[in-house]
Amino acid sequence: MKTFLRWFGLALCVAMAGCGKKTESTTDVTVRPAAKVSDEILIGEYGSMTGSTATFGIGTHKGIMIAVDEINDKGGILGKKVKILLEDDQGDAKQANNAVLKLIKRDHVVAILGEVASSCSRAAAPICQENKIPMLSPASTNIEVTRNGDYIFRSCFVDPFQGAVISKFAFATLKARTGAILTDKNSAYSVGLAQVIKEEFAKMGGKIVADESYQANDKEFKPQLTTIREAKPDIIFVPGYYTDCALLAIQARELGITQPIIGGDGWDSEKTTEIGGAAVNGCYFSTHYHQDDPRPEVRSFVEKFKKLHQSAPDSMAVLGYDAANILFDAIRRAGKTEGSAIRDALAATKDFQGVSDKITIDKDRNALKGLVVIKIDEGKFTFAELVKPTP
Ligand code: PHE
Repeated sequence: MKTFLRWFGLALCVAMAGCGKKTESTTDVTVRPAAKVSDEILIGEYGSMTGSTATFGIGTHKGIMIAVDEINDKGGILGKKVKILLEDDQGDAKQANNAVLKLIKRDHVVAILGEVASSCSRAAAPICQENKIPMLSPASTNIEVTRNGDYIFRSCFVDPFQGAVISKFAFATLKARTGAILTDKNSAYSVGLAQVIKEEFAKMGGKIVADESYQANDKEFKPQLTTIREAKPDIIFVPGYYTDCALLAIQARELGITQPIIGGDGWDSEKTTEIGGAAVNGCYFSTHYHQDDPRPEVRSFVEKFKKLHQSAPDSMAVLGYDAANILFDAIRRAGKTEGSAIRDALAATKDFQGVSDKITIDKDRNALKGLVVIKIDEGKFTFAELVKPTP
């Protein structure tokens, strides 16, 4: 009898575990019973807190937490304190998918902030959409991200705009007529941005003379760089993420390639100069904000951040702060935390004064915002150009 009971108990556990498994994805997450009414507003955040894009997740989280502390000091939203539940996805798309699943099924969050890297946002967005949990990406610029459905938003500009600005800056400001391009072929962000850069550069009369690729976390770029050196381009476009780009710049200089390298917001990390050293001097990248911007919103955020963290915020901190505040404002306007109500309020976001810019969410759930071009000079990010989008 004892043995039978033990066996029966085990069988029951297995059966129950089977029931608990989610059906809509391939990852295993044990589903807990519906959440009891919480005295806090639970918001999920997923990002790369570790790995080769760790500054993206860490910076974003710092910005989000400043917004959370500010709102909670004022009494929270709808009479409740806000609590952030953070999942580290290591910058990996599969883990991003799993992280979001945990936040929704296990933690019962009412909305989700993240990701920075577009591949991660693209992997997680379908889960949010299926579960009708609004997702707001502070920083993913790939055009496809918000096409996953009406619950998926971003509060940053998109790559068709960023790519056009990069090409124009290369052609008109730097007078480049020929360019080489190096794409991270496994990154949705890099592939999408490279496509726009090529098209826009060609439209202006520029010519791509070498078109090479690599994969994130590669350590050896010399074969591609040798091809590029032979093609003698005026400029080299590298729309990738900072760790790869910095290593690539070092190897380019070792090969005697002196032309400027230009990238997008994926270069925006203190690690770019830390890893790249002198090799990245004279390089350019486009991004979302510059710390010397004299606007009062920027000044007060930079001061506050410096007091807390003893360093200036990067773009991710600013974007995380803005995204969190946009979401809080939407929840307040919604007056409740149902997914559909938050979704409708997010969609109605208009002229929200953020630190990065004034933010309006358009009908495609994207934001129309200004972009900054940075020049790396003597190891410092210096302001080169501000470009406003034409509505
Ligand atoms: N825009 C990048 C992407 O979509 C992420 C990023 C944003 C990186 C801002 C740095 C700064 O993948």
